[in-house]
Amino acid sequence: MRIDVLTIFPEYLAPLELSLAGKAREKGLIDVRVHDLRQWAHDKHRTVDDTPYGGGAGMVMKPEPWGEAFDELGIEGATVVFTTPSGQPFTQAVARDLASRERIVFACGRYEGIDQRVLDEAATRAEVREISLGDYVLNGGEVAALAITEAVVRLVPGFMGNAESLVEESHEDGLLEYPVYTKPAAWRGHDVPPVLLSGDHGAIAAWRREQAVRRTAQRRPDLVHPSVPLEGVEIRPVQ
Ligand code: ADE
Repeated sequence: MRIDVLTIFPEYLAPLELSLAGKAREKGLIDVRVHDLRQWAHDKHRTVDDTPYGGGAGMVMKPEPWGEAFDELGIEGATVVFTTPSGQPFTQAVARDLASRERIVFACGRYEGIDQRVLDEAATRAEVREISLGDYVLNGGEVAALAITEAVVRLVPGFMGNAESLVEESHEDGLLEYPVYTKPAAWRGHDVPPVLLSGDHGAIAAWRREQAVRRTAQRRPDLVHPSVPLEGVEIRPVQ
């Protein structure tokens, strides 16, 4: 998978060299390239923003540098992801979908956003997705691009050593993960639930499932499908 990131703060993407994405890079599974959008701004101050037509607060990112960047990188056939608080919420399902792409180009907006014609132009040449990291406003799309990259890259076939841990983790089966324990069996007066020491794999699987359903119902009732039995699970109101 090839990933290009267009940003006016390329240093923000330095963590891509580390940990998960760094490992995927070393294995040759992903090729990440970070580009400074200002290289496609040609005035003395390398201006990338201007005042909004129609008035209002803040600045809007100008279309020309984006257009030139798209031309030089060649976005044809890619999925161009605009990270924006007005996009589709990012979920594990979206991550799985993006993990099937050959090429992703992240367009990280700043200020009040990017001139709409940049998205319209990209849509004539590539698949365009607008994705939000969550219902809050960041200073720009860089942190969202980092988070999305990390969630996507670990799903690229060949990346995770242990495929089982992918299947069992939070959100992959639509539930939050059950609590986990390791040695010692007793620690500061807290004991590991006895069923986990029983060696009874059926009982352990049933306990874990029940814990996952209980946790999900309590913390994220919006994720629980009506078909899941919830006897004995107290559902607290969402604050
Ligand atoms: N840019 C600013 N806020 C954002 C958010 N919540 N998600 C994605 N990009 C953003």
